[in-house]
Amino acid sequence: MVAGVAALLLRGVKEDAPRAVTLPGVLREEAGTRLAVGTAVRDEPLREERGYRTVLARQFSSVTPENAMKWAVLEPERGKLDWSAADRLVDFAVEHGQAVRGHTLVWYSQNPAWVEGLKGAQLRQAVREHIRTVVGRYRRKVAVWDVVNEPFEDDGTRRKSVFQRELGDGWAEDALRTARTADAQAKLYINEIGAEAPGPKADAYFALAQDLLARGVPLDGVGFQAHFSESGVPDGFRENLERFAALGLDVAITEADVALEEPADAAALRLQARVYEEVARTCLAIERCVSLTVWGFTDRFSWIPETQPGRGEATLLDERLGPKRAFREVLRVLEGR
Ligand code: G3I
Repeated sequence: MVAGVAALLLRGVKEDAPRAVTLPGVLREEAGTRLAVGTAVRDEPLREERGYRTVLARQFSSVTPENAMKWAVLEPERGKLDWSAADRLVDFAVEHGQAVRGHTLVWYSQNPAWVEGLKGAQLRQAVREHIRTVVGRYRRKVAVWDVVNEPFEDDGTRRKSVFQRELGDGWAEDALRTARTADAQAKLYINEIGAEAPGPKADAYFALAQDLLARGVPLDGVGFQAHFSESGVPDGFRENLERFAALGLDVAITEADVALEEPADAAALRLQARVYEEVARTCLAIERCVSLTVWGFTDRFSWIPETQPGRGEATLLDERLGPKRAFREVLRVLEGR
């Protein structure tokens, strides 16, 4: 027994980590070439848990680093870059034939302290250097970039950030143009939370997309994070995404999860499954909806309980990597049933 435990520890496999169970189908296989089915990925379980890696490799055709490519993680001190977690995920994706959604280049949150203190031209230069360095490192490996993340407040005004304060509205355009010079092939996205349904935020998001396109700013797609709850999919979700697609843009569901009050009873889990089903059907119904990414695939690793005490169980698989009703529903939709 001791030898067994030692072997597990030597291999860096946490003894209590859940092993991959047999799931009732394979999401990436059922999705085929219609759309990429993805998930956010955490570095610790990717490093240490074989069950997590097994499910990740088998079920998903796209991966998004949940945190590994955020500026504060990559470059906590100016000029001292730590690529280890980001490289680990990109290498895993290459090994398993998965696309990588690079997340994220310019965001109001998770910036290193030294960036928050920069002014004007110094900040612009630092942002350009950051984008060129990160996008350049992963050229031909990262297929899609969330270049601009969450530019708006809920009322549709520009979100307050060091970039908005120091550089004005033009920071988003500058980031997209810089990313294009760093990689001529990657698909460049803007990505937003809470803009899934018509309203001031979605309208401002739409106006930004229109304006960028009208001025020839490189923009290939728009992301809708789809962090939902028991309240379900908001009215107008499909119509809202369709108007962006009508601009000639790809649309993507980039961070779907459905948060529940814990512990979730059978009725809540049935409701959750219906919400995931509607998200998947909506994406499939829109030709330009090219990917459906969930924000973590197991309740064991989700931002929800870490930020919303008493809430969680938001993902497709339970803590033991077993299938929840939500997994079966998404699988059924992808099977065309
Ligand atoms: O890695 C450090 C660790 O060393 C330290 O001990 C610990 C305690 O302070 O913090 C750890 O970093 C945390 C990081 O997640 C990794 O777990 C940060 O504090 C924490 O703020 C960070 O939260 C992430 C959050 O973005 C902020 O970056 C969540 O995991 C992640 O799910 C969430 O994802 C965002 C998307 O990027 C954008 N859309 C919204 C979505 C949910 O907020």
